[in-house]
Amino acid sequence: MSVEQTLVLIKPDGLKKSLTGNILTRLSETRLEIAGARIVRVTRELAEEHYVALKDQPFFQGLIAYIMGELHERRKVMALVYHGEDAIKKVREICGATNPEEADPLTIRGGYGRITTSGIYENAIHASANLEEAEREIKLWFYPDELVYHIYSVQETELKDVKRLVWA
Ligand code: PPS
Repeated sequence: MSVEQTLVLIKPDGLKKSLTGNILTRLSETRLEIAGARIVRVTRELAEEHYVALKDQPFFQGLIAYIMGELHERRKVMALVYHGEDAIKKVREICGATNPEEADPLTIRGGYGRITTSGIYENAIHASANLEEAEREIKLWFYPDELVYHIYSVQETELKDVKRLVWA
């Protein structure tokens, strides 16, 4: 067993159905630690990069619309990084099978997921599938200083001419 990190997304249907608390409670059964959390407005660019491996699938455009919140009038997701021993497997077990109809009813997807009439899995939660995907996804959704524990190398760099919003 090794210390891992995994990316979790509570998807727009989860937010619209007020499932955030229930999902976080279920995830706390893993006894893993939360290393970071953000509410994110998902751009098309981020959505397409996240699901890049699926770009040739017939459901790809529907999947992008779903994660961007276009199907639920909730244009946001909650992104979390869970940290600890065997994190990827522990989180995936509580999430259940990707297809909500095949997921054990006692899992998050089994309890809260559905398949839409157009065939999209509205399964309320995403969790990284393996070590490689976890690293790629965490680095896509988070900057190092948004995480309180690091398992991937970081470096300090000085940014010039970077614009950011500050309190007026
Ligand atoms: S997994 O769970 O990552 O191993 O699954 P994978 O098959 O690689 O990724 C599938 C993601 O696409 C979403 N999706 C669908 N998959 C298959 N068939 C249909 N019709 C479909 N619609 C959507 C599926 O939910 C997976 O995304 P995540 O975010 O992981 O749930």
